[in-house]
Amino acid sequence: MDWSGLIEKALEGMERAYAPYSGFRVGAALLGENGVVYTGCNVESCAYTPTICAERTALVKAVSEGERAFSALAVVSSAGADADYTSPCGVCRQMLFEFCKEDMPVILAKSKEDYQTTTLGQLFPMGFGPDKLGKEKPVCG
Ligand code: THU
Repeated sequence: MDWSGLIEKALEGMERAYAPYSGFRVGAALLGENGVVYTGCNVESCAYTPTICAERTALVKAVSEGERAFSALAVVSSAGADADYTSPCGVCRQMLFEFCKEDMPVILAKSKEDYQTTTLGQLFPMGFGPDKLGKEKPVCG
């Protein structure tokens, strides 16, 4: 599978990161089953706690635009080639688990050429999902 286009979108998202406190810029690109790519970046607050990650920015953009079903997620950061791949934080994994299937590919990328592929289920095993409350994961429409 060629993920370079989705990674490119995540890199574009990262350009818009607002991260004056951490200096750690993150970009995300979430592919909707409708074919639209929703980009996100981290947006920090001087009060720190309200900060939102790139992944959740992309997710809430998508859901607020009417998409609820997703095919893949790419994540990039400014950590650099020598650092570990950046992967979603626990809060983002929980929110992604609300909407996304466990086998959804998650691409952790340093560049278009250098990336690692995992799945949401690998990142968030035995997650607490809508089924635990007797609900199904939402589907678009
Ligand atoms: N951050 C993300 O946007 N996504 C991640 O996967 C990890 C962390 C942000 C939050 C904060 O703005 C900065 O990176 C440092 O934690």
